[in-house]
Amino acid sequence: MSRAERKVDHIRHALGHEREFHNHFDDVEIVHQSLARMDFNQLSIATQVGELKLSSPLFVNAMTGGGGKETEAINRDLALAAKETGISMAVGSQMSAIKDTEERSTYEVVRTVNPEGIIFANVGSEATLPQAREAISMIKADALQIHINTLQELIMPEGDRDFTKRLHNIQRIVDALDIPVIVKEVGYGMSKETARTLLSMGVRYLDVAGRGGTNFSKVENMRRNRPFASYDNWGIPTPSSVCEVSMIQDDFHVLASGGIRNGLDGAKALILGAKGFGMAGGLLKVLVKEGEEAVIDEINHIHKEVKMCMMLLNAPSPLELRGKPHVLFGQTKEWVEQRGMN
Ligand code: FNR
Repeated sequence: MSRAERKVDHIRHALGHEREFHNHFDDVEIVHQSLARMDFNQLSIATQVGELKLSSPLFVNAMTGGGGKETEAINRDLALAAKETGISMAVGSQMSAIKDTEERSTYEVVRTVNPEGIIFANVGSEATLPQAREAISMIKADALQIHINTLQELIMPEGDRDFTKRLHNIQRIVDALDIPVIVKEVGYGMSKETARTLLSMGVRYLDVAGRGGTNFSKVENMRRNRPFASYDNWGIPTPSSVCEVSMIQDDFHVLASGGIRNGLDGAKALILGAKGFGMAGGLLKVLVKEGEEAVIDEINHIHKEVKMCMMLLNAPSPLELRGKPHVLFGQTKEWVEQRGMN
């Protein structure tokens, strides 16, 4: 199978795998407040995540690139939708384009169609500082995502096995760059122990990318003759992960992703302590099934849902949703109690 075919195969599996029966955001219930006193039409969802001034807490999370015409078209359409709606967007891992210059156009298109937008570059934790710089300059990125995906690599037959240089690489990149460096998972979530280690290294931006949405154990297992199915439910569910990392320190900028289905899930993530929220598989599914206009509609709808929640809770900005009254049920409640976060 060629690299281009593998990328497309990946997307097919990422969209096609069975979702978890239970969505962990359903464990979070917001306490309704009757006395709304703001003007919906005056409400703005503009926000700030550390140094990043954003017109919305929602961003398109890292997905694709490399692999030819098909991924280039996906990136162009996502970038056009991001431009039209003013949201930020991450590109997929640029590691292959760093090694093979022919693949660059599939990423560069994101900047070409959206010259003024906020765009995040993306590399793996195996990237060296020069490689990180190259990824950034390829798309004139405003921030860099470094993804960590140990379990995905372990399930992939051709995946990495040696992670001894990971912390050193991240440290060098964080020390040297003057744009935000966001360390992210890929659907397994982050613990408070992980967050503390990253914080001690100077990392200030995290995307928990928790369990509950796109599931890379299932994606990679679908490509194996002998799957590691016992790892299909590995990972920290997104709401629990946001609680884990949000309790650590106030100047940590937490982003939430993984299984966010709509604006209300996004608002719940903000209530639990995130400053922004990303969507990957959900938006890709809309694009593939219904096209770019439908993605624009979907993003606008999500924005309205966030605003409705702000309105109901008298939160004049997305950041002011943080800590609004809510009740945790089920697995999330047990998680938070047993991990000493209540
Ligand atoms: C991803 N994701 C991802 N993340 C990353 O850091 N680099 C990457 O190259 C990719 N590639 C990728 C491809 C596809 C097809 C999907 C659907 C996802 C992970 C993504 O950014 C996100 O962390 C998770 O998918 C969880 O979010 P959702 O999909 O549940 O909204």
